[in-house]
Amino acid sequence: MTNTLLVTSSPRGAEGLSTRFATEIAEGLKARSGGTITVRDLATEPLPHITPAYINGRIASPEARTAEQAEAVKLAETLVGEIRAADIIILGSSMINFGPSSLLKAWFDHIIWPGVTFGYGETGPIGLVPNKKVYLVTATGGVFSEGKYASFDFQTGYLRHLLGFIGLTDVELVRVEGTVLGPDVANAAIAATEAQVRAVLERAA
Ligand SMILES: Cc1cc2nc3c(=O)[nH]c(=O)nc-3n(C[C@H](O)[C@H](O)[C@H](O)COP(=O)(O)O)c2cc1C
Repeated sequence: MTNTLLVTSSPRGAEGLSTRFATEIAEGLKARSGGTITVRDLATEPLPHITPAYINGRIASPEARTAEQAEAVKLAETLVGEIRAADIIILGSSMINFGPSSLLKAWFDHIIWPGVTFGYGETGPIGLVPNKKVYLVTATGGVFSEGKYASFDFQTGYLRHLLGFIGLTDVELVRVEGTVLGPDVANAAIAATEAQVRAVLERAA
């Protein structure tokens, strides 16, 4: 059975295109091969920013943690558990000020955890949650896949880096771009992404 983790993070709620296409991929894969979908919606249930309780709690032994530290660490353990249980991870990411939203950044701040999701070996970092397929769905107001603003994209490279750092190197990128460049550009972008999603699902069949 395939377990899918769907992580959505659009601050635009129901209008979020990253959420829409990430959800379509999750549901399309499930329709083809069954399995389960675990939804972690960071927009409707935002994570707290990391705190001293979390930072100190995760280096303390479980018996030595204060109640506040134990609660902070438990949340991170739940999030890491969702990743470990998943065969496929689908991430929806809205571009906010040229990077991912702080909603998604907070998720990475909880799950990138020394000794748990990454370590260092003689040759450098070692990701400790390997062997999962990731679909990364990004939605951007402008166009960054090519053209004069390509160097303004601090979202896709950064997210690929964070994912790779914990072992998630098999990442397929689905973009919807130009969403604020007027209805004609936005509708064409949506149609192009719909075609991309269909191609992803056909390849996965
Ligand atoms: C606060 C805010 C900041 C944004 N910053 C950028 C940006 O830096 N570059 C850009 O191209 N689009 C930017 N946008 C536009 C969003 O990337 C665009 O609306 C995208 O579709 C959001 O993703 P979503 O559809 O998943 O919500 C911004 C939108 C908001 C609301």
